Amino acid sequence: MSKITAAITGVQGYVPEFVLDNEKLSKIVDTNDEWITSRTGIKERRIMKNGASSDMATEAVKGLLEKTGTKAEDVDLVVVGTVTGDFPFPSTANVLCDKAGLKNAWGFDLSAACSGFIYSLATASQFIETGKYKKVIVVGVDMMSSIIDYEDRTTCVIFGDGAGAVMLEPNEEGLGVQDFILKSDGAGRNYLVQPAGGSLNPPTIETVEKKMHYVKQEGKQVFKFAVTNMADVSAEIMENNNLKSEDVDWLVPHQANLRIIDATANRMGLPKEKVMINIQKYGNTTAGTLPLCLWDYEKQLKKGDTLILSAFGGGFTWGSVYLKWAYNS
Ligand code: UT7
Repeated sequence: MSKITAAITGVQGYVPEFVLDNEKLSKIVDTNDEWITSRTGIKERRIMKNGASSDMATEAVKGLLEKTGTKAEDVDLVVVGTVTGDFPFPSTANVLCDKAGLKNAWGFDLSAACSGFIYSLATASQFIETGKYKKVIVVGVDMMSSIIDYEDRTTCVIFGDGAGAVMLEPNEEGLGVQDFILKSDGAGRNYLVQPAGGSLNPPTIETVEKKMHYVKQEGKQVFKFAVTNMADVSAEIMENNNLKSEDVDWLVPHQANLRIIDATANRMGLPKEKVMINIQKYGNTTAGTLPLCLWDYEKQLKKGDTLILSAFGGGFTWGSVYLKWAYNS
């Protein structure tokens, strides 16, 4: 019997309707379109006005079920990459299973910030490869607007809200996830962090007054680590799998900053045409960026295409997934 691999058999995204563009932001904080565009590549981001992460995830998953012709009751497992779950507990996966009618599925949330989708994809693929499950949904979702301080121009211009979901199924043609490298370094925890709300700093009047429930980022430091590590890990997965630049059809990079994306693509020797970019439309949706890229570019993907997914984020967490696309749209 040939080896079972975990292949993506469908992708669906969801972004809220409300568009917060650079123009509107410049009326809220001291910033401008020129600075944001030249430093990050972002033009606008979407903001969830009513609802929570589970609502965005539910929209994406319902669309995914419809698109792939999957019955809700046939889904075995749901893995949700997120750092902005509806509650500290229960998990957003639990809530999502209820809202999307996945009544035979179990699920869990996976916290790896901007690497949430690649961590979740690599984890979920194990349940397919062992033969245990036939239909596993991987979601990347974040409602960053719920933890962003819209008086802090160094973070509020970057982040947005969005969700993406993929279906994973067994494949015996050698398509799907081929390899992954996942890394973490907790020494970086203070550079990009939501300081309060957990067991270290439970909510108090003081934590609220000090704005400790919002994202704090030392942008320059994170930038340095992101540029180096995302490029290194992308080069490493190519090397480990004897992939040359010409063998790679697509880089699917985390959308944190266009300059980090360019540095990674350069290191891999890839031209711009092979790089998925939608940061201009959505900003950084944390765990949402990679599935939203796959959703946007789905029609251009061909069966057998070689994709490298790469991310870097809070934790620090980072890594790459090498996969072969399994279908033509
Ligand atoms: O996804 C998770 C991982 N996160 C990342 O990968 C983010 C990594 N970091 C970055 O992308 C960049 O560091 C930022 C986009 C966050 C910041 O860009 P930068 O080029 O590193 O800017 P900076 O922090 O060095 O700030 C340069 C100047 C400062 O002014 P002075 O001190 O030179 O007078 C800032 O106060 O730009 C100022 N500045 C702004 N100006 C207008 C900072 N934010 C803004 C703003 N609008 N929104």
